[in-house]
Amino acid sequence: MELNFSLNGKPITLEIAPSDILLDVLRKAGMKSVKRGCNEGFCGACAVLIDGKPRNSCIVMAAHCESSEIITVEGMGTPDHPHPLQQAFVDHGATQCGYCNPGSLIAAKALLDRNSHPTTDEVKLALDGNLCRCTGYVKRIEAVLAAAPKMKKHLANTGGSK
Ligand code: FES
Ligand code: FES
Repeated sequence: MELNFSLNGKPITLEIAPSDILLDVLRKAGMKSVKRGCNEGFCGACAVLIDGKPRNSCIVMAAHCESSEIITVEGMGTPDHPHPLQQAFVDHGATQCGYCNPGSLIAAKALLDRNSHPTTDEVKLALDGNLCRCTGYVKRIEAVLAAAPKMKKHLANTGGSK
């Protein structure tokens, strides 16, 4: 079957099987930021934004994503122009092996896109479903809180594109 959706702001059409899982479809499409951890919806490593909401792609049927807008970390920033969250994760030492980072960044982006002044508790809640075996949980909270005030400038520089 054919699947039409928007991937990181660009329309895409893929041939998929009705049983395909979104995680596999996105990785086959080159989105290697989408990681497989538990494969059961518990660790958040595979999180992507679907129509603005963070979802664990290992438990989403790709066929249910017709006409959806999907954002992965590849759509957030580049090495030359990182998203404020990506830069803050680096600056605050919130990355070690990096395996959890894409999912955490997606969850944090979903938060800052709807709330540009989150409290520490709101950040903790937003990242609650993203497990990390390396850095622990304090550094990434600090990173999200540091990135929040930079979102306004980021939006101005990207013409309002989140
Ligand atoms: S791999 Fe999807 S939630 Fe763990
Ligand atoms: S940085 Fe290694 S799992 Fe989080």
